[in-house]
This record gives sequence, C-alpha cells and structure tokens, in this order.
Amino acid sequence: MASADLNNERAKVILALETEAKEHYEASRDSAAASCYERAAALLERHAESAPSRKIEGVRKSKALRYREHSKALKSGDVPKAEGGGGGVATATKARPRGEKGSKSDKDADEVKSVVTGLLHHSNITWDKIGGLEETKREIKYALAVSLAQMPEGIQLAGWRNILFYGPPGTGKTLLAAATSRALKTSSEEPAVFFNVKVSSVMSKFFGESTKIVSELYGTARDMSPAVVFLDEFEALCGSRNDGDTGTERRILSTILSELDGLSEKGRDDIYVLTIAATNRPWDLDPAVLSRFDKKILIPLPDPVTRRAILEIHLTKKGFELEFDLADVIDMTEGLSGRELESLAKEVTNRMVAEANSELPKLVDQGLDAVRGYQIKVRPLTYEDFERARAQVQPVTSKEDMERYTDWRDAAEA
Ligand SMILES: Nc1ncnc2c1ncn2[C@@H]1O[C@H](COP(=O)(O)OP(=O)(O)O)[C@@H](O)[C@H]1O
Ligand SMILES: [Mg+2]
Repeated sequence: MASADLNNERAKVILALETEAKEHYEASRDSAAASCYERAAALLERHAESAPSRKIEGVRKSKALRYREHSKALKSGDVPKAEGGGGGVATATKARPRGEKGSKSDKDADEVKSVVTGLLHHSNITWDKIGGLEETKREIKYALAVSLAQMPEGIQLAGWRNILFYGPPGTGKTLLAAATSRALKTSSEEPAVFFNVKVSSVMSKFFGESTKIVSELYGTARDMSPAVVFLDEFEALCGSRNDGDTGTERRILSTILSELDGLSEKGRDDIYVLTIAATNRPWDLDPAVLSRFDKKILIPLPDPVTRRAILEIHLTKKGFELEFDLADVIDMTEGLSGRELESLAKEVTNRMVAEANSELPKLVDQGLDAVRGYQIKVRPLTYEDFERARAQVQPVTSKEDMERYTDWRDAAEA
C-alpha cells in the first residue's frame, strides 16, 4: 500500500514539474525550465524502477531521457523559441531536423534507444554492503577521485577508465560495480546512472543491432557523465572465436574496443565514463582486449576475514542474534563464495523462523486479519542451526578452479 501511495505521489510531482517546465519554457525562462526537466527526469528514472511492467518501465525511461535532452538543450541555448506559445519543448526539439519523420531509420534509432534506456539503472548499493575487499574498494575510490578531482594547470594524467574484474562466480563483482556507480551520485536529486549490460544477451538478442547499441549506450553514458558502464559476462565478446568468427562479431568487438579506448571522448576531460567489465573466464579474453584495461583485479573467494564480514552483513546486521561466536564457524565456510554465504545465512534464518512459527499456515485459514495481527517470533541462532544449514550449501568453485584464477593472474603479471 505504502509503495503505491509513494508511486502516486511521485506521478503527481512529475506531472507538476512537467507543467511548470512548460510554463517556464514558454515564458523564455530557459534555465528554470531546464532545472524542472532535470528534476522530472530524475524522478521518472526512479518511477521507472517501480513500473508494473517492462513496457511501462521502458516508456518512463525514454521519457526521462528525453527530458534530460531537453534540459541539456535548454542549458546550452540550443532550442528554438516557441512560436505563439503552446509549443512546449517537446515539440520544439522534435521539430529540429533529424531525418524524415516516421522513416525506417528513425524507427530503428528509436528501438536502439529504448534498448539502451532499458539498461539504465540506479544503484542503492553502498560500500558497507560489501564485505571485505577493502583493498579493491580503496583502489576503485582512488580511480574515481583522481579522475574527477582538478588537475593542476597543464598536467595531463591518463586516469583509469577501464577496469576488469575477474574471479569465480558470486564473489561480489556486480556488487562492486553497483557501489561504484552509486559513489558517483552527484546530488540527492540526481542519482548517478549505471548501465548494466550482460554482453551475451546484447549479442544474442540484438545481434544485427549490437554495434549500434554499443555506440548509443556509450553516447548516452557520456551525456549523463559521470556514469558507469558495467559489461557483465564480458568473455561472451571473444567466445565466438572457436565457432569461426564472422564479420558482425568482429565489428562488435572493434566497436567496444574503440569505446574502451575512449576515442569519442578525447580532449573532453569534463566527461567521465568508467567501464567495468566482469568475467569468470579471463583466459577466454584476447590479448588485444585485455590490453585495454588499466587495471585487472582478481576478486577471489573470500578469505576468513572477508567471510566473517559477509556473514555479519547477512546475519548480525540484519538483526539476528547468535548464541555462538562467528569466529567458531568461519572454518566451516571455507571455499564458499559471497553468494553461497548469503544462501547459508538465508537458510539458517529461514529455518529458525519456520520452526519458531510453525502455526503460521493455520493462521492463514483464520483470515488475513489474524495473520496481520501476528508477530513473527525469533530466537537466537545456535551453532547446530548453522551446522545443519551448512550441509545444505554446496560450493560451486573448487580449490583447483580457484587456483586456475591465481595461476592466470601470476602469468598475466609475469
Ligand atoms: N563481498 C560480499 N559482501 C556481501 N555480499 C556478497 C559479497 N559477495 C557476494 N555477495 C552476495 O552474493 C550476491 C552475488 O554477488 P555478485 O556481486 O552478483 O557476484 P558476481 O558478480 O561476482 O558473480 C550478492 O548479491 C550478495 O548478496
Ligand atoms: Mg555478477
């Protein structure tokens, strides 16, 4: 209920901002209009995330994008004045020459745009949601800071623009990318954007369009700078080598490489787009691809200190009490990834709650009011709870698998 209210409220505010923007625009108060459009865009992006369907989400996201474009155009004085009022920016910018209306290429371009807006996200992941990995967090923060801070006059430092995370599944690569984009948040009103791209799905679903999607994606990211482009399952890019690669695949690869080289940003030090790529199979990547990354960081299976930090995040920080010392169960969790530790925590807590509240199903028969009036019982978790749950979680990464990553790192560094 509460979230529906929130959505209604937000829809109203967006509507009010749209009206206000139009009024400002018609009265030639361009900068006031720009700021209304910008605020409406930020709200629309959030609104998109709670959309009831993918389709509505897409509509809201592309509207947000359009408002950002309006705002930018207004700020740069790039917008023709409304004639005789009533036009509004929407019509004004649409009226600018952009090829024939309704033509095929126009429609294709719209489609590419809507795919790209579908990849747009905001992240709520903060650094403290990520257990351990302190050195990696520090390195990323340094990379952000050195790229965004003011350089002394005349100094040109090649900052980091591309980072590769590699390592076994479930170790926090996606989390780190999300936290990085969140750290780029410029104000409370305007969350930084995060393009979350699963390379394999862009390649397979939009095969013919993949190159255009990549270019549009980076173009949009530059418009929204500072931004993070997260390329997940990056090895899919090079995976086709074995099947004999085709011209299209090579073109996609070369488009991504030129984006990684930042050719379109040269000389624009006001723009910061950080690309983070992630892979579980670094050995599948071409040397030409690997050489593009300023930094390649192994995200390993968690060590004892990290495992403890992760369990704290998923148990104690979620309010559960323990009858045992976490230190006593850390040995038991060797070889588990972050994701598996999270499953373990879920398993322990869910079992305890299920046991302590076994009368819940019966309550449902008495009606929803009875259920709502009931308070869930909890008790401190025991060592035995933990042991039992541990038996349910099987690690996917073996010691040998992990060695393959460290061997690869050692070879790459040699
Ligand atoms: N270091 C960590 N701290 C806290 N939770 C983690 C950590 N690593 C993994 N997790 C948990 O596992 C899930 C999967 O992690 P993810 O970042 O998607 O792994 P990867 O991208 O490396 O495969 C996360 O959503 C999180 O709940
Ligand atoms: Mg991931």
